[in-house]
Amino acid sequence: MRKKLMCLLAAMTFAASYGAENITTDVVVVGGGGAGLSAAIAAKEKGANVVLVEKMLMLGGNTNYATAGINAANTKLQKKLGIEDNAELFYNDTMKGGKNVNNPELVKKLTTDSANIIDWLTERGADLSEVVFTGGQSAKRTHRPAGGQAVGPVIVDALAETAEKDGIDVRTESEVTKLIKTGDKVTGVEVKHKGETYNITAKAVVMATGGFGANAKMVAEYKPSLEGFGSTNSPAITGEGIKMVKAVGGDLVDMTEIQTHPTVVHKKTAMITEAVRGEGAILVNREGKRFVSELETRDVVSKAELEQTGKSAFLVFDQEVREKLGAINGYVRKGFTVEGATVEELAGKIGVDAKGLVDTMAKYNGYVKAGEDKDFGKTALPRELVKAPFYAIEVSPAVHHTMGGVHINTNAEVLTADGKVIPGLFAAGEITGGVHGANRIGGNAVTDITVYGKTAGENAADFAKNSK
Ligand code: FUM
Repeated sequence: MRKKLMCLLAAMTFAASYGAENITTDVVVVGGGGAGLSAAIAAKEKGANVVLVEKMLMLGGNTNYATAGINAANTKLQKKLGIEDNAELFYNDTMKGGKNVNNPELVKKLTTDSANIIDWLTERGADLSEVVFTGGQSAKRTHRPAGGQAVGPVIVDALAETAEKDGIDVRTESEVTKLIKTGDKVTGVEVKHKGETYNITAKAVVMATGGFGANAKMVAEYKPSLEGFGSTNSPAITGEGIKMVKAVGGDLVDMTEIQTHPTVVHKKTAMITEAVRGEGAILVNREGKRFVSELETRDVVSKAELEQTGKSAFLVFDQEVREKLGAINGYVRKGFTVEGATVEELAGKIGVDAKGLVDTMAKYNGYVKAGEDKDFGKTALPRELVKAPFYAIEVSPAVHHTMGGVHINTNAEVLTADGKVIPGLFAAGEITGGVHGANRIGGNAVTDITVYGKTAGENAADFAKNSK
């Protein structure tokens, strides 16, 4: 599938052969990740002429890195599997995970529209045929491709193919440097392409450029305690879009709310999906002991890891977990895992107290059998860890998601500090703030980018239709 995408992108870039002439369109979408692609498709399917610009050579942005899945409640798949869930439960989990800092209206829309977005993505070719637990969820609602393949590339492939079929004008290596304002309205963008600058005049602009997780300076400015931390983000995620929106009067919210992901390969930037813990992996310290409920929210797990000797931990799992989750084969291929034929051998190889680890595994397996985690109260206990070989990955926290950003309403319209809509300007995805509050729940980013991407695209198309 990825190979298909690479061919498609090459074809699209080749076929486009755009120059640097000024052009006019109904809707211009800035950013070619999941939010931008959703917006462009939704706008086009509502009858607008659409240009999508992406600064990188490839489409996908941070969505290419999304692994665990997309959260949704009340879906056809959940109903088929007898999973009891609803939008209200999902709302409550999201607000609780975000420490109630979230904008309740935005969360209400996110959770209410979540089931529909699974259908919308599936109709456009994304395989979301499994559903599992991830951290901070009170029901199985993380939808993912069969075999536990990473969700992001599957969605990007499906949306990129749809964009091509829909005939959207996709321009890669095209960096937006400025939003153009005429009076109080946003009326286009300035674009730099291969050293030349031109304007796209548009009736509506959708900003979907992502957050600022790969901009270490900006991260440290807003949250000095994260100075020196690595990042799981695509190098494209540097926050210029947020600054451009601010420059035309857009309000910013929750900018100091920056999330670390607790399971990133120690001293590297590769994220190990939360789904590994969802399938039953445990976290142990150098003494071989568990120290937290592995499915606690990311802020809690990250903090607990940093309190352990060496400020890192080991994610430990067995062959059965590997067999359940296709993404693990990629970690093995990349050399992130250490393998042992027995738990003792594994402990020796990773420098963890062997007796400590053996005792912990025996105790944990007992909890699974009994259906109760007496130490940390973890509620999802999918399996005993008994099937050799055993695996470990040393992990520590790294910057993962910037929850703050551009202030929007539920129509994805950008607001000023006094709550007025900036006509012609829409935003969606990680560039926005307010959906996730103080801590994003794993699997909610893909819901956010697609629900609000689609909303932004539809409303931008309507705005364009109604503008003179
Ligand atoms: O752990 C993960 O796969 C990350 C998911 C997310 O950030 O939503």
